[in-house]
Amino acid sequence: MIEKTLSIIKPDVTRRNLTGKVNAMIESDGFRVVAQKRIKLTLKQAEKFYEVHANKPFYKDLCEFLSSESVVVQILEKENAIADYRRLMGATNPSNADKGTIRSEFAISIDQNSVHGSDSPEAAANEIAFFFSGIEIVG
Ligand code: CMP
Repeated sequence: MIEKTLSIIKPDVTRRNLTGKVNAMIESDGFRVVAQKRIKLTLKQAEKFYEVHANKPFYKDLCEFLSSESVVVQILEKENAIADYRRLMGATNPSNADKGTIRSEFAISIDQNSVHGSDSPEAAANEIAFFFSGIEIVG
């Protein structure tokens, strides 16, 4: 089934000017970037985006990091996009990420782990609606 997933290229990547390298891996893996923009989140917006993690000990650092620099938010489309993008990202902690994954190539730490991807169809729908309006999704 063709799916859409929400991807965030995080501040550790934008800060080091590696956005194009991450996008090259995404496109080589067969994803189409059907919407994309570079934005700077406020702390409040980052807190809202990650509110499912609000009770976790890493929440404050996570939100401060996500709002520390610009991010690139994008919608990726392909067959099984949600699971396939999580596979391409690699494990949350880059020291456990398989070779050839984005996090194994670029991530610095579990906090500065380069990319975010939706973890379910429900999350994908909510996260896409958080960042994009229908007119911005070109297919
Ligand atoms: P992400 O996929 O964006 O979703 C939540 C983020 O929290 C995760 O990537 C990590 O960058 C960050 N994080 C920090 N510590 C942890 C942890 N112990 N477990 C899971 N996620 C963590």
